[in-house]
Amino acid sequence: MIATTPPGQARWSSRAAFVLAATGSAVGLGNLWRFPTEAGMNGGGAFVFFYILFVALIAAPLLLSETLIGRHGQRSTIASAAYLARQSGASPAWSALAIVGLIANTLILTFYGVVAGWVLYFVYTSGADLLGAIVGGQPLAGAYATESVDHIRTLMPNLFANPVLLVGLQFLFMAATTLIVARGVKGGIEAAAVWLMPAFFILLLAITVYAAITGDFGAALTFLFTPDFERALQPGVLSAALGQAFFSLSLGGGAMIAYGAYASRDTNLGSTSGIIAFADSGVAIIAGLAIFPIVFSVGLEPNAGPTLMFQTLPAAFHAMPGGALVGFLFFVLAFFAALTSSVSLLEISVAWVTEKFRMSRFNAAMLMGILVFLIGLLSALSFNLLADQRPIPFVPGFENANWFDAIDGMTSRLFLPLSGLITAIFIGWFADRKLVNAETGLSGPVLVMWRFLIAWVCPLAVAAILVIGLFPGLLG
Ligand code: TRP
Repeated sequence: MIATTPPGQARWSSRAAFVLAATGSAVGLGNLWRFPTEAGMNGGGAFVFFYILFVALIAAPLLLSETLIGRHGQRSTIASAAYLARQSGASPAWSALAIVGLIANTLILTFYGVVAGWVLYFVYTSGADLLGAIVGGQPLAGAYATESVDHIRTLMPNLFANPVLLVGLQFLFMAATTLIVARGVKGGIEAAAVWLMPAFFILLLAITVYAAITGDFGAALTFLFTPDFERALQPGVLSAALGQAFFSLSLGGGAMIAYGAYASRDTNLGSTSGIIAFADSGVAIIAGLAIFPIVFSVGLEPNAGPTLMFQTLPAAFHAMPGGALVGFLFFVLAFFAALTSSVSLLEISVAWVTEKFRMSRFNAAMLMGILVFLIGLLSALSFNLLADQRPIPFVPGFENANWFDAIDGMTSRLFLPLSGLITAIFIGWFADRKLVNAETGLSGPVLVMWRFLIAWVCPLAVAAILVIGLFPGLLG
């Protein structure tokens, strides 16, 4: 139930609906695709260790802060932040946290739509393959059973070599996202999410069990859970882990403020935030345990980058009995997981444009949808026509980044934590204490601990990681 009714009136139908919707926003390509990619590129164990630490000490407390800003304000994200500031006798300029968030959310969607387009490509190829298997009287065959493993390896490069197809798929996904937001998120997507998210989770578990049995599970466990702390001190690992914690939990001054605005007064935000953070990082770890055993058993390199998920899973579906069916179902569900997240990414700017410029929801969605699609072309074409462009070579760590890597990296490593830093300082030091404490639903030692994390640990840790990230020489 999102934003079809003016703020202050719409409500989640229950606490469970709030948890599911927020989890639907959080669980997406960030867990399935981005977590394994980043873990693989940042040395595995050290990254995973700090990712989990940052979720517990920084992201979960911030998740509570964002939802409480939303529920207290019952307005759009920027207006909610300004409202709490005014009520606390603080400057409404604190709403900068939501302005940074709005820009970051919109930029994230530009490349998110591209990756979701890749997912669509696999929906299409695995669907055609399943159809062929059924027609051929082998409905329980492995995926791409009539093809060689080498053919499966060429699926991604073939897609990258075809800019028209790539952009067409990105367009399809953005069109779906835009139409849902244009109609109001309320109807289909929420009802669908309630069924599809659990189905998705069960399927992912099944694939993980399969990967554990047939792949190199031992190597995956060692890679993911044996931290090499020397590696952790190399430039980039800490900011990558923090960025992933923000990205995966949909933090950074956007979605979670908006979703909090529809939570009812008697929802305990403290405990629900804990549940959402736990569920989301759990799905990420499980996705890692599905993908890395296959990486090691088929001899791929874990640092393959953004294509890792799309190279490993089809190979596993190939060898799996019934893989044609499982593979198709998996990509369909991954598509829905991406859609429940992309909708929340677009909703933030659309809500703001309708409020600010008194534009209809439909027009605002079209305007933002087209804008995001156009900027997204830079990311879509980063793998072919624009492959040689290096947009920000002067930023440490981004010397070799193409448009895709630059927009992804800058938003999650810089913008999201920056918004989180402002949020933590605002909630920890400037927002009215009584008011904030009452909104959390926490009491006793847990409340004391949360206040300590949000006032001290979050600002100091996030600021330190931002500085280290900007001056990698400090540790290099
Ligand atoms: N968390 C989502 C995912 O993991 C992506 C997402 C949705 C997001 N809303 C966001 C990321 C807001 C950052 C900010 O796929």
